Amino acid sequence: MKKCFQFLLLLISTSLFAVEQPNPVKLKSPDGNLEVSFYLKNGIPYYSLNRKNAVVIKESRLGLILTENQSLDKDFKVADIQESAFNETWKPVLGEVSTIQNHYKSVKISLEETSKLKRRLDVVFKVYNDGLGFRYEFPKQANLQFFVISRELTAFNLTGDHKAFWIPGDYDSNEYHYATSKISEVDAWKQPLISKGKLNKNIPDQYAVQTPLMLKTADGLYINIHEAALVNYPAMQLHVDRSNYSLSANLVPDALGNSAYLRAPGNTPWRTIIVSDKATDILASKMILNLNEPSKLANTSWIKPLKYMGVWWEMQIGKSNWNYTFDVDSLSSTGTLIPQGNHGANTANVKRYIDFASKNGIKGLLVEGWNTGWEEWTGNWKENNFDYVTPYPDFNVEEITEYAKQKGVEMIMHNETGGSATNYDRHLDTAFRFMNKYSYKSVKTGYVGQITPRGEHHDGQWMIEHFVRVAEKAAQYQVMVNMHESVRPTGLNRTYPNWIANEAGRGNEWNAFSDGNTPEHETILPFTRLMGGPMDYTPGIFKLRNYASNAPDRQMHTTLAKQLALYVTMYSPLQMAADLPENYEAHQDAFQFIKDVGVDWDDTKILEAEPGDYITIARKEKGKANWFVGAITDENSRQSVIPLNFLDKGRKYTAIVYKDGKDADWKTNPEAYTIEKRIVTSSTKLKLNLAKGGGAAISLIPVQ
Ligand code: NOJ
Ligand code: CA
Repeated sequence: MKKCFQFLLLLISTSLFAVEQPNPVKLKSPDGNLEVSFYLKNGIPYYSLNRKNAVVIKESRLGLILTENQSLDKDFKVADIQESAFNETWKPVLGEVSTIQNHYKSVKISLEETSKLKRRLDVVFKVYNDGLGFRYEFPKQANLQFFVISRELTAFNLTGDHKAFWIPGDYDSNEYHYATSKISEVDAWKQPLISKGKLNKNIPDQYAVQTPLMLKTADGLYINIHEAALVNYPAMQLHVDRSNYSLSANLVPDALGNSAYLRAPGNTPWRTIIVSDKATDILASKMILNLNEPSKLANTSWIKPLKYMGVWWEMQIGKSNWNYTFDVDSLSSTGTLIPQGNHGANTANVKRYIDFASKNGIKGLLVEGWNTGWEEWTGNWKENNFDYVTPYPDFNVEEITEYAKQKGVEMIMHNETGGSATNYDRHLDTAFRFMNKYSYKSVKTGYVGQITPRGEHHDGQWMIEHFVRVAEKAAQYQVMVNMHESVRPTGLNRTYPNWIANEAGRGNEWNAFSDGNTPEHETILPFTRLMGGPMDYTPGIFKLRNYASNAPDRQMHTTLAKQLALYVTMYSPLQMAADLPENYEAHQDAFQFIKDVGVDWDDTKILEAEPGDYITIARKEKGKANWFVGAITDENSRQSVIPLNFLDKGRKYTAIVYKDGKDADWKTNPEAYTIEKRIVTSSTKLKLNLAKGGGAAISLIPVQ
């Protein structure tokens, strides 16, 4: 990560002057369009946010409550105000663009209690052209050293009954459909298509929603609320006051009901509000990444983008199994395990996938269910079932390593924890040493089920620390990580570039074992879950009907062309070709797009977007002149006109357009597609007809 230039424009400390502190303190973004105001009213801190003189966030509370009802939210005076400005560009190791500008103005307001304790709390605002970030900082001081936060009072008071794209405030999962409703109608119980049993267990409050929360006002303003740099603190959910259109921080509690254990000096994560009158600007924003610390890894040359296949979908659809035996007690009279006969991760099957990946230039191969312990991986009673190093008897790790090496395929490790983070912590070094020994360069982790330590939640402070610990430890062994069932990301892939992806949302896999995802799902995810970072969504399913062995009526809510478009619209430097080799064999011409498409980018153009309706994105492959376009729609068909004015002027390109067939429809005819080849230039406008639940994918390769 190289810093190109960096300078501090001004630093004014008003404490140098013996003047009364201004109230309110106001600060504008570099372009002058956004303005944050901070003020004390009777010693209580508030902020508000305006955009071009229109209110975005009305007067809203700031402050914290510590345990035993100690307040850190009132009786304050302003002791000091420091303003500064910052402008640098930096290069992400992997990303949507090669260079990112980090340009903001900042103000730190130092508050001091007027009471005897005189405790100090700093509030820091950074105002960007595309949004506001702010956090609490706790300076070193005698009367606040170790402390426990029970509540955060930060509020986001909205100006009206905005449209919201939300999922319910489950402390342990983000794997929901998005509901679209007015703020006044947010009601987890009415959320469509989700199992109420699941909500019942984990949601203490039916009016809590998760972030990133996407909002749209009646005037067409887009507002996105999330957080950045979530370390050593619980995730923030939002409590919804439906009558006042007011949102307030709802921190995920620990097993004792507390929120965060901190020491001074220290700080909270950044609270983020991205705002624009263009939906495309929301998707293009890099503010969350900018609010994260630069890379902690000095050497990042081993971190590479990756396309991969998996001995995986066949387990998801019930064709094979993760388990080797029927149950843990399936021992023969000689004491050996009795195989149940359907184990996916067997050497011969793995070699079949290696052959296919090698033949088609897909670099990585994930194998799940290779190690002992799967017979007891679910249920809250287990803790030590996995040791992460013992293969089942039919998975010959030496033979597979050697075969993959010969065929130029990189094996991807799988470490499912079943939620037992304590057990994984104990085995981390052994697990990563095993990966180094057998040349595994990346690992997919998973946290299905309730967390051990019992009573902790996936999104609480203890687990937040665990996820960071895993990313740091992996980096020591030069291993890249893709976490499933982790907390949703907050831009930490800037700080830990080896933390290349997360699931932390409702992935394509739900189509295998449930009613699936709605046709609009992928038009909402980039505005919500992906605002924090890349998602391992696992696109590329070609067999869209009659794939689930125990549910022949099940079908995906998408066309085949849309599955291709997702490689562009769903950003990730790690992209899976998720379907079975035989289903790709059946559509070699369409599979060509998956083989060709880039995974790491020099440039990205968000061409059109509306949450819940459609998204069209063009991206230029890193270090190459090739562009790729993805266009998707929801349940409605749509015509999209794409001016190719992002292409180099005066250059000819071969466009290969993979589009929905004439009668394609996600429900009645999902696998109908056509492929068209033509020569285009930067003045060409491509007209695309997207089917209901459909999409289009285009590769643009310069003519030599
Ligand atoms: C859930 C993950 O999301 C999925 O991809 C994986 O196959 C299973 N857990 C088993 O680890
Ligand atoms: Ca999952």
